[in-house]
Amino acid sequence: MVEPALADRPTATPEVTFADYGERARAVLAPDVWDYVSGGGGAEVTLAANRVALDRVAVLPRVLRGRDTVDTGARLLGQSYALPVGVAPMAYQRLVHPDGEAGLAAAARAAGVPYVASTLSSTPIEQITATGAPVWFQLYWLRDRTLVRDLLDRVVAAGCRALVVTVDVPVLGRRPRDLRNAFRLPADVVAANLPNGRDTLAHAGVPGVSAIAAHTDASFDSALRWADLAWLRQHVDLPLVVKGVLDPRDAIEAVRIGADAVVVSNHGGRQLDGAPASVTMLPEVVDAVGDGCQVLLDSGIRGGSDVLRALALGAAGVLVGRPLLWALAVGGRQGAQDALALLAAEVRDALTLAGCADPTAAAGLRTLGTG
Ligand code: FNR
Ligand code: LAC
Repeated sequence: MVEPALADRPTATPEVTFADYGERARAVLAPDVWDYVSGGGGAEVTLAANRVALDRVAVLPRVLRGRDTVDTGARLLGQSYALPVGVAPMAYQRLVHPDGEAGLAAAARAAGVPYVASTLSSTPIEQITATGAPVWFQLYWLRDRTLVRDLLDRVVAAGCRALVVTVDVPVLGRRPRDLRNAFRLPADVVAANLPNGRDTLAHAGVPGVSAIAAHTDASFDSALRWADLAWLRQHVDLPLVVKGVLDPRDAIEAVRIGADAVVVSNHGGRQLDGAPASVTMLPEVVDAVGDGCQVLLDSGIRGGSDVLRALALGAAGVLVGRPLLWALAVGGRQGAQDALALLAAEVRDALTLAGCADPTAAAGLRTLGTG
């Protein structure tokens, strides 16, 4: 049977767990795209550790608190959102569905959560903010500083609400699945924010080479320092988030240069294999920054119970990555909207069952390390 074109896929029915979206996405995506989205660095030990470590955090619920309503709303970077959740920045979303970034951003708007737009979006930032979603822009620092300035001007003009600088990609992690697949972008998926977005590097099929890694390594500055972020802090009048911190000493540096938040993240296990699960480092980072800045968590969040675990360990909120790409792959904008509605229901359920009136109350819960 001939596969139907992406746009002809029937609208998906809502699923009951994120894992269900994963199974359906695996069935509809080309195997090399599935591998790029769902795979990780090296032997994928860190990718697996993210799940194992989250599962080992047990949260002690409280009872008889005399409340029959729960407010899932949260303040992130000084603004109010419907959930303590944001859509993680993810490159090239048109790889999985023609709705791409605009579809996932529109879903974030409907859910009342921030959408973090990647530098490597396959849709220009102006078209993403045009959806009306609250957009944070994720910066990969380009080798050419004038290009960085141009991009920042566009980001501010487009009305982005925050700047997220990702610091764990001096080079792209070695990802065996992509190397085996000689993974490359199809001709119609480009880095739409970059002048060299149509660069042949990202589209070339060279055996044993990931074209995405080749393009990324040629484009990004791998010699960034904290002083560069301090420069950014001075020159961009937006809340600044440092994404990809695991060591508490780096979190302290982020506070020192004036960051408004850090994201404790190992990039979903896609960068240094052998790095700890991000949730393992969360308590130490929370401790180190004190009230110096907000702390967000990503890597492995797969439902409302994980959001509760992060909140109980002191995070202000989480970012969710792959599950939302799976839902986008399955049902485009509507699929992503259904997945975010599912997460909202799960967060409400988790808070209610733990006896918390709102996400801030979850910070008072006790946790136990189990297993
Ligand atoms: C990412 N991630 C990422 N991060 C970033 O700062 N800029 C980017 O362009 C990308 N691109 C990207 C593509 C794909 C396909 C994935 C799966 C991830 C990392 C992302 O923001 C986040 O840190 C992880 O995805 C979180 O882990 P989970 O939720 O996917 O387990
Ligand atoms: C990734 C990059 C692009 O993780 O951040 O694939």
